[in-house]
Amino acid sequence: MKVVSGIAELRAARAELPHPIGLAPTMGYLHAGHLSLVEAAYEQCASVIVTIFVNPTQFGPNEDFTSYPRDTERDLKLLEPYADLVFIPATETIYPAGFASFVDIGPIAERLEGAARPGHFRGVATVVAKLFNLTQPDRAYFGQKDAQQVLVIKQMTGDLDFSLEIVVRPTVREPDGLALSSRNVYLNPDERRSATALSRALFAIRDRWRAGEKGCRPLIALGHEIIAREQSVRMEYLSIADIATLRELERIENAALVSLAARVGKTRLIDNVLLDGSGRETF
Ligand code: PAJ
Repeated sequence: MKVVSGIAELRAARAELPHPIGLAPTMGYLHAGHLSLVEAAYEQCASVIVTIFVNPTQFGPNEDFTSYPRDTERDLKLLEPYADLVFIPATETIYPAGFASFVDIGPIAERLEGAARPGHFRGVATVVAKLFNLTQPDRAYFGQKDAQQVLVIKQMTGDLDFSLEIVVRPTVREPDGLALSSRNVYLNPDERRSATALSRALFAIRDRWRAGEKGCRPLIALGHEIIAREQSVRMEYLSIADIATLRELERIENAALVSLAARVGKTRLIDNVLLDGSGRETF
């Protein structure tokens, strides 16, 4: 496994790798969710590139960019069995002085997380476009955990004619349902217990939908009820939306994305489930 931080080094090492090349972009502090992407790339590709970069342009001014957890040494140990090349650039390498170009995605980037975090997806799309250009993978791996991010990346990949396949992997969860997230380390033990309310709300909605309820109003009320029982959890939004446009639905005719953001204490967490008659879990 080669570890590089410069663009020239990255390009030289990348040129030696056999195809197909799989890319898993991450912000590090790796957990089993990230590793599920890296393992899938390892199984499906001849070479695996992982990037570790806490991307400043996708954080808002009052968000956790400086306190975002980092542990590169541990990350590299976890990647050793799977990755051929790990790219860990400095901020100035990705955004040198004079950097001025950004990728703006259309309406799907303005809803849900985009509304709650203005500019977030502009930062995500910009860095992912750069990483695609730098690593030129045949396949890039993303998690359904960040469902809207997947739609944003797919939109960008199509619009900008990137010649690669986007592979989406299911959300990896703790045994009690909590979706793995680097931000879970912020939770104290009480908050950690309360945080299961997010997945409990989503699973209850999914169960009720499977039992035949197709109206979104009662499904949303059910989710809010479950969250409201936890004192330290405050719902930011709970959405049942069309899986292509992310517009809110009144009834679930075929498929829907149920997604939510909530604060557990001071920690902001997101989660989602895909409802689809065919039973698929990912976009
Ligand atoms: P990060 O939050 O580090 O996540 C990297 C990848 O891991 C994303 O594709 C994310 O969806 C996936 N992931 C995170 N938690 C997961 C879980 N519990 N199960 C399955 N997959 C999971 O997402 C980002 O970084 C950044 O926005 C990035 C794409 C790297 C651009 O900066």
